[in-house]
Amino acid sequence: MTPPHPPAARHLVRDSADQVAATAADLILEVLDGVSALGLATGSSPLGAYDEIVRRVRSGEVRLPVAQRGYLLDEYLGLAAGDPNSYASVIRREVADALRLDVRGPDGQAADPHAEAERYGREVVEASVAVQVLGIGRNGHLGFNEPGSDLDSRTRVVRLAETTRRDNARFFGSPTDVPTHAITQGLATIMRARRLVVIALGARKADAVAAALRGPVDPACPASIVQRHPDAYVVTDREAAGAVR
Ligand code: F6R
Repeated sequence: MTPPHPPAARHLVRDSADQVAATAADLILEVLDGVSALGLATGSSPLGAYDEIVRRVRSGEVRLPVAQRGYLLDEYLGLAAGDPNSYASVIRREVADALRLDVRGPDGQAADPHAEAERYGREVVEASVAVQVLGIGRNGHLGFNEPGSDLDSRTRVVRLAETTRRDNARFFGSPTDVPTHAITQGLATIMRARRLVVIALGARKADAVAAALRGPVDPACPASIVQRHPDAYVVTDREAAGAVR
């Protein structure tokens, strides 16, 4: 008997950032039932999808609540929860307040960050996230699981790659203000979400998208783990799809 094909992440290519946002919003809303847990990534890639969901709520196309709680994918260490650059602040500002989501995340100022990572990891697993929204780093990171991360990794304290700190410097006054460490959901934690929706835009993500979709499932490209998820979507524009063969 031929073994069944392993599940493969579905790659959806769209002509514009607006269409990427609309498709991602469809995929996210499809599995939310008002009481579910929604996993939220920070960064620029999901902003269009978040705006589109908020737009549909405001226009009455979608009714609140879309979900009960929002769970952060990651959080910088060392920033106060009220710091405008903390991921809790960004997520509240960009999406969670408008959707009236109760936001849960790791405490970036916890006295014992390792214990806090463990606590938050347990909370996420118990919440049973219905859909996790994700971006992808230029280096293939998923959450703040940088290259070399164990595919079985749990929620933990990580050191940020220098490329990641440089990429994220645009949100801070100076590159040296970008924190060096974060708490991130681990790859195994992310994989427990019932659906994954990865969003990537622009040519600078093309190599990472190709490695994630077509490369070996390997810690060198943490995002390649999506190939093992039974209900994963990678939604990109043509530019980000440019290296996928
Ligand atoms: C954000 C996160 C990161 C970003 C990635 C892409 O919570 O964990 O993995 O998704 O760095 O960032 P953008 O979307 O800004 O290119």
